[in-house]
Amino acid sequence: MTNDVPANADLGLLLQHQPHLISGMFDSIAARYDGLDSLLSAGLDDHWRAELIKELGPIEGADVLDLCAGTGEVTLSLVHAGARSVTGVDFAPQMLRIAYHKAHREGLDGIRFICADALHAPVRSTSMDAVTMAFGLRNVVDPAAAVAEIHRVLRPGGRLAILELSHPSHVVAGPFRAYFEHVMPMIGRLVSHNPEAYRYLPESVDAFPSPDRVVGIIATAGFADVRARAFSQGVAHCYTARKL
Ligand SMILES: C[S@@+](CC[C@H](N)C(=O)[O-])C[C@H]1O[C@@H](n2cnc3c(N)ncnc32)[C@H](O)[C@@H]1O
Repeated sequence: MTNDVPANADLGLLLQHQPHLISGMFDSIAARYDGLDSLLSAGLDDHWRAELIKELGPIEGADVLDLCAGTGEVTLSLVHAGARSVTGVDFAPQMLRIAYHKAHREGLDGIRFICADALHAPVRSTSMDAVTMAFGLRNVVDPAAAVAEIHRVLRPGGRLAILELSHPSHVVAGPFRAYFEHVMPMIGRLVSHNPEAYRYLPESVDAFPSPDRVVGIIATAGFADVRARAFSQGVAHCYTARKL
């Protein structure tokens, strides 16, 4: 089976979250992912990731798992924030390859990168103090199963921080929608070699549960102190919670 997503890939199939199509799509844009992410979000992506780490709270000496690690932007920051051990899991090998090279360049050779499905992370139960997931929950087949998996790997008292795109407040909703639905796919089409990936982005945000429902999913999985904080007028939300 090939992992390449042809330019005319069926968006409907991608939106059904067929794992090999999703990982193939990310692999096909891996080399351009960081640059395009910054360009398309006008640099907000890095700001949100930094806020995610702050929202997680102190992690000095903690064992931390970064799910849907991608090119390692959050993964590497966790080491800089003082984590004792950091594991990054992603099922797209080309995304992880870039993360691995970045870590190596920065001399962060202790990070464990694992190519695996976030819904079945090869990580022992109750072995982590904290779990992060940035822009990953929207892509998994079953967000509730992903949150249950996070609950499984956390120690009692362990914390989660999930960052995900959402629909912004009324104030910016109109311009945002125009940008998201027209400008962003156009830039994606011109710059990336996979225009489907940048059509998938707005569609996947549309299909993703509202922040209230995400809070419900996290609470139902057995987490306490579930909070959602809106970033940039609600263009993204950071969800935090604690395992009892
Ligand atoms: C939008 S990228 C985000 C990457 C990174 N966290 C960041 O902040 O840039 C989403 C990543 O989630 C990964 N992903 C999606 N579904 C996954 C799954 N079920 N298991 C593992 N990784 C998954 C993709 O391969 C991709 O690298």
